[in-house]
Parts: sequence; C-alpha cells; structure tokens
Amino acid sequence: MTRPAAFILLLLLSPLAAAQSLTFTQAQADAGKALYRDVCQVCHGSSLANGQFGTPLRGSFFRDKWKGKSLGELLTFVYEKMPPDKLMSLTPEQYTSAVAYILSRNDMVVSDTPMSTDKDSLGGVLLPW
Ligand code: HEC
Repeated sequence: MTRPAAFILLLLLSPLAAAQSLTFTQAQADAGKALYRDVCQVCHGSSLANGQFGTPLRGSFFRDKWKGKSLGELLTFVYEKMPPDKLMSLTPEQYTSAVAYILSRNDMVVSDTPMSTDKDSLGGVLLPW
C-alpha cells in the first residue's frame, strides 16, 4: 500500500475506534440506579457488595473476575442470566443502564456518549481493570 493510501485508511478507521470505547452517560447511570434498586438489590445488596444471594458487583472480586473481558461479554452475561428469577425480563435499554450503573460504582466516569444498547457491537471494548 502506498503511504497516502495507508494514511487515508487510518483516517477512515479512526472514528470507528472512537465509537468502540467504554462510555456511558449520567442519564444511563441514573436510570440504572433506579432499576438496580427495584430489581437487582434484593440479591446483590444496597452497596452492590453486601448481597445475600448474589455475588459482589463492585470491588476487587468483581474486577478480577471480569478483567481482560469485554463489555460485550459482561452485557451478554447480564442479558442472559439476570435476574435469575425472571430471565430476559428487561429491555436492552434497561440492561444497558444497569451495567452503566455498575460501572459507575466501579470508579468509571460518565461521558457525553451513551453506551450502545446493541451488546453485539461491544465485543471489542475491553473492561479496563
Ligand atoms: C434472584 C437473585 C438475583 C437477582 C434479582 C439479580 N442477580 Fe445478578 N447474580 C445473582 C447470582 C446468584 C449471581 C452469580 C451467578 C453466576 O456467577 O453464575 C449473579 C451474578 C451477577 C453478575 C456477575 C457477577 C460476577 O462477579 O460474575 C452481574 C454483573 C449481575 N449478577 C448483575 C445483575 C443485575 C444488573 C441485576 C438486576 C437487573 C441482577 N444481577 C439481579 C443473583 C441475582
């Protein structure tokens, strides 16, 4: 490939790379917080780490478990397995906001770019821990 062609290819690919970063908005985290209280807290606890029936969703246990995995994998797990007593009972928007809330409680900061509700597009977005 000639050098200008390679440069143009890079320019074309850079917006794709930007769209693939780990982002969520304050609105998503807020919606997720309300949903968490209604649906998830009964098992995972009010602090996300003091649940009697669910594993911790924040802190080192949670981060070590998901380290090196993708946001798509985390979303897929939640879509397919949560809440275990009412599988697949939520909309993609609700699942996405619940995960945004969990990430916000694991020291990730909000941005202006919402997290995609299409979990299959997030397989390349690595969780940072
Ligand atoms: C009826 C109890 C219950 C409810 C309600 C529930 N969970 Fe869970 N959750 C569990 C259990 C038990 C596990 C561990 C299951 C496993 O690892 O296979 C788990 C695991 C998880 C994990 C993976 C944690 C890890 O360290 O691997 C996530 C993320 C999660 N739940 C999110 C949610 C969200 C979001 C909601 C609400 C929409 C929710 N859960 C509702 C019981 C529950």
